[in-house]
Amino acid sequence: MTDQQDLAIRARGLVRRFGDLTAVAGIDLDVRRGTIFAVLGPNGAGKTTLLRMLATLTAADAGTATVMGHDITTAPHKVRASIAMTGQFASLDEDLTGRDNLVMLARLWGFRSGAARARADELLAAFDLSAAARKQVKNYSGGMRRRLDIAASLIVTPGVLFLDEPTTGLDPSARQGVWHLIRQLAGAGVTILLTTQYLEEADQLAERIAVIDHGRKIAEGTSRELKAATGSGFLHVSLADPGQCDAAAALLMQHLGGSVQRSPEGAELSVLAGSATAANAALAALIEAGFDLTDFRMGAPSLDEVFFALTGGPDRAKDGKRNTTEAMT
Ligand SMILES: Nc1ncnc2c1ncn2[C@@H]1O[C@H](COP(=O)(O)OP(=O)(O)O)[C@@H](O)[C@H]1O
Ligand SMILES: [Mg+2]
Repeated sequence: MTDQQDLAIRARGLVRRFGDLTAVAGIDLDVRRGTIFAVLGPNGAGKTTLLRMLATLTAADAGTATVMGHDITTAPHKVRASIAMTGQFASLDEDLTGRDNLVMLARLWGFRSGAARARADELLAAFDLSAAARKQVKNYSGGMRRRLDIAASLIVTPGVLFLDEPTTGLDPSARQGVWHLIRQLAGAGVTILLTTQYLEEADQLAERIAVIDHGRKIAEGTSRELKAATGSGFLHVSLADPGQCDAAAALLMQHLGGSVQRSPEGAELSVLAGSATAANAALAALIEAGFDLTDFRMGAPSLDEVFFALTGGPDRAKDGKRNTTEAMT
């Protein structure tokens, strides 16, 4: 078991309701100091609400939590002194330059003017924003803006940094830049709790991942553990003609049972096969039926497939069907 001293965040049974809606329905979380922890879930899963409770911006209706050893209910000031948060709605002044924003925030933290300017310049350099320091924030690109956002939360190095969907809406290269930054911060000893809708982001960055849906944690583990728990024998099949996907999926389902997942582009199908023998028989049936296969392989599921298996896939909102692996938590 993890030593409590070793935990930056420890939450038990956190609940938050909004009227009839239970946004967070009893979540436990243990985040070790100095690690990157991802809360992964679709829109509306309760990610932001969970973060806001831990950051003492929203009160919990039930449950307890400590952040850097301080209780969120009885010692919120101590919690606030040990964290920083950036969110989808950060408070930068669009009309000020990037540098002036940082200088102003440093002054608010109690830096004298010379020290505030020095800290601003240090952060601008660290975040590769020196060249844009004297531009108004409204003229920043999405990636620059997000980097400034994170810089603004690091005027004073926090014990825990909360990042709410740090790369949502960024293009792939700006996303890489933010990932690099997050890794550097973790390397410097900052504990990072981030939320994301992107499976790849959690996979790339986080030591541990909690998957949440409808306010509940439905799985937790390392990326590798989550994949292993879903099953290692995934059969992936690519078809030359995406128009044949329905028919091929039906045949795979007939042979292997379970639900067949389709890639967003449509031409790749994947399904849990259980054994190589079963996969082989299903492949033979596809070929015999005349499907033109461009690729097939057997392997671990992607994190996308894990998520699909846990939540019942993209259709779950319509039919409420789930095939959760509750045993994983
Ligand atoms: N202030 C609020 N008032 C009413 N409902 C809210 C409020 N904040 C969030 N919700 C609802 O709670 C649920 C979880 O929201 P949120 O925590 O923002 O999810 P996520 O960040 O995972 O997208 C959603 O159904 C959302 O509409
Ligand atoms: Mg959110």
